[in-house]
Amino acid sequence: MCGIIGYIGYREAVKIILDGLECLEYRGYDSTGLAAIENGKLLYRKNVGRLSVLKDSIDKDPITANIGIGHNRWATHGKPSDINAHPHLSSDGLISVIHNGIIENYLELKAALEAKGVEFVSETDTEVVAHLIREKYKGDLLSAVSEALSEIRGAYALCVLCESEPGRIIAAKLASPLIIGFGDAENFVASDSTALAAHTRRICNLNDRVIADVTAESVHLYDLDLKPLELVEEHIPDEWTQEAVALGEYSHFMLKEIHEQPQAIRNAAMGKLGSKDGSVAFDGFSFTKEEYKKLKRIDIVACGTAYFAGVFGKYLIEKHLRIPVEACIASEFRYKNPIVGEGSLVIAISQSGETMDTLESLKLAKARGAKTLAITNVLGSQIDRAADYRIYTMAGPEIAVASTKAYSTQVEILYLLALYFGSLSESMPAESVEALTNAAMQAPDAVSYVLGQEKAIEQATEEIFKSSRMFFIGRGADYCASLEGALKLKEISYIHAEAYPSGELKHGPIALIEEGTPIVALATQPELYDKALSNIKEVKARGAKVLLIARDSAAYIAREADISIMIGEMEDDAAILPAVCVMQLLSYYTALKLGRDVDKPRNLAKSVTVE
Ligand code: F6R
Repeated sequence: MCGIIGYIGYREAVKIILDGLECLEYRGYDSTGLAAIENGKLLYRKNVGRLSVLKDSIDKDPITANIGIGHNRWATHGKPSDINAHPHLSSDGLISVIHNGIIENYLELKAALEAKGVEFVSETDTEVVAHLIREKYKGDLLSAVSEALSEIRGAYALCVLCESEPGRIIAAKLASPLIIGFGDAENFVASDSTALAAHTRRICNLNDRVIADVTAESVHLYDLDLKPLELVEEHIPDEWTQEAVALGEYSHFMLKEIHEQPQAIRNAAMGKLGSKDGSVAFDGFSFTKEEYKKLKRIDIVACGTAYFAGVFGKYLIEKHLRIPVEACIASEFRYKNPIVGEGSLVIAISQSGETMDTLESLKLAKARGAKTLAITNVLGSQIDRAADYRIYTMAGPEIAVASTKAYSTQVEILYLLALYFGSLSESMPAESVEALTNAAMQAPDAVSYVLGQEKAIEQATEEIFKSSRMFFIGRGADYCASLEGALKLKEISYIHAEAYPSGELKHGPIALIEEGTPIVALATQPELYDKALSNIKEVKARGAKVLLIARDSAAYIAREADISIMIGEMEDDAAILPAVCVMQLLSYYTALKLGRDVDKPRNLAKSVTVE
């Protein structure tokens, strides 16, 4: 959600900024822009729509500069339009600002500035920042930004340029992500390391309430009162390579990432799952048996796909460990006065590690005395840094907005976590240890098996997805999987898809089934096969067209379905990942046939850094 890139050095800033904005496109945006200082003159370009429009306008009227800032905007305050796109400028054009986040008291600040005669041109909250900094400016941009920030409430990742100080970018961060990248005689600012991987591996993740004074030769950090802070250098992880963020032979990142799943799952388990006896160790998380004994409950907080991984985590941990687990949507958890405190473990699952609601839920739990564990894909992300403990999913960069390999690796980590808790509890049955170990070890091959059926899955979309609405049904683990299947389909194909526990259909939703209504039914849990069969008969009797996703051992159910995709044989707990992989491919090929923008579906952002 919004992408920021800044450059200062000796190279062509505009080229670096445009390339950086392209790398950040995956975060989601509806307009784009940049500002740069050419021969002491602050110039800018911005437009609603794609980056290609900005590139064309730069081609027609180039800017030559060694300093600049660029922004992809995902609209919050004010519709997507040329005028609302960033950068925003002070009325005299001296100050230029790009911003990710929400300035909560912008109306109040705007009224005060208007009373002093300032004229606003956009509907955005960001514009107040440009005018406020201008008002405070008396020859030193750093002091002006610090003074302005003392009056601002809300969330921000900011980059500021000043025409009369062409050798510095001032950046600041509160709640929204921002990192600094270090080069030789050049430095960078960015929303995330995807935009920097081509230039440097040396970075610093800014903490909240930090201002950075960035020149070509130096980076100095300050708190909001301009007290100097220590700068701690970190590194972009090895798997965040330029190739990893490039399409390669694939037509879409989503397809590439679906295919990367077997290796991503292996990477997730590597160095954590010791051997076939199910021993597990994590670098960033360890509990003593005493601590585990004191554990009264676990809450998993997350959003979207990560939440659905959490729903499966609840199923898995309760099944094997018999301790109470809740999976909570983070935006609900925050505001429901949750029952957390000593004796609770709160697990935040987040691919990006930046999702605002997940981050705030984790902070709330921590403040109330709960232990907190982050399961995240991004080292150094805010959720990673805010938690007491951390486990990395090691999926590598996920660029497509629709999450695929992040989900699989989160599920893999949940197998390992259940095993780890089992080793602490000392009472987990040997069958559970075996089942979880098998699941963790079988998952990559189980997904590969399904990828081998890609053609058949693509063909299945011809038959089934002709409706504007459909259902995904299953029980137990199959319900967990169907939640993710329905989300994948709706977000990239825009077909209205709902997941329902099969047994719940008769309590209302069955009224929606008529001749030809497509239903994806799951049958991967042998003890529930007969129930699955009854539910399939029930919907078929009302005219539904059923696409069955089932284990080979459920072949007798397949006879009742219109189309079946068989996923092979595996441990019960391992079936969720191949089943979800089938639904990822169904969604992908359906969206493709409908001509959707698969990697960048409308209205969605990859990283949701506002509430
Ligand atoms: C769906 C999807 C989203 C994310 C959600 C949480 O495909 O990608 O639902 O799962 O926005 O994002 P993270 O995991 O980054 O916290």
